[in-house]
Amino acid sequence: MRLIRLLANLGYGSQKDVRAMIRDGRVTDADGKELAVDTRAKAEDVRLDGEALDPGPGMVLMLNKPDGYTCSTADPGRIVYELLPERFMHRNPVLAPVGRLDRDTTGLLLMTDDGALLHRITSPKNHVPKTYECTLARPLKGNEADIFASGDLLLRSETTVLKPAVLEVLDPQRCRLTIVEGRYHQVKRMFAATGNHVETLHRSSLGGVTLGDLAPGKWRLLSPEDVAAIGV
Ligand code: URA
Repeated sequence: MRLIRLLANLGYGSQKDVRAMIRDGRVTDADGKELAVDTRAKAEDVRLDGEALDPGPGMVLMLNKPDGYTCSTADPGRIVYELLPERFMHRNPVLAPVGRLDRDTTGLLLMTDDGALLHRITSPKNHVPKTYECTLARPLKGNEADIFASGDLLLRSETTVLKPAVLEVLDPQRCRLTIVEGRYHQVKRMFAATGNHVETLHRSSLGGVTLGDLAPGKWRLLSPEDVAAIGV
């Protein structure tokens, strides 16, 4: 791909900005040799101010989403893109959240510019497990695990029952729930259906990928092994 387009698609600037960066000698090959405006190059062979470029299309990252951020590009409040380098919002193809977490839900959020991967992860057909740590307003009654595992729980205003989900009770008001779908406000609505209310919700894993020691508000790129561990 032509250098200008390559850098512009990675969000480093408009074609005009990028042309100026190249003219200023800021764009080099791996040996530090300045590249000309009309060069054709791959992202991995190019340096900007001596630094490697971000990965090209196919990039997948995970963010430990803090409370108070929305999974959107346009919201009057804080958005998850503010936690990433600014250029990530200007990539082409677009870097998008894989499914959504509510503004007050914390934890593992994947983002990718790979539309096919995004579709595979979010497709209900693929049953990718998602695990949430929940704190509840009221103690569990004791029948929730059976209700969620039954495969016949129908949420209000829906026409199809939920797939079985696994509930692990940690203490009377704390539990871990694994679901294989991603319906709107699903976890909160499941507990509402049992007469309870979710006070805090944190996603700790998706497929075989966990947050590990990634601190709230931090992100990291996923390796090909991590992507394989998603299981789609
Ligand atoms: N279920 C919810 O209710 N909210 C989320 O953010 C994710 C799953």
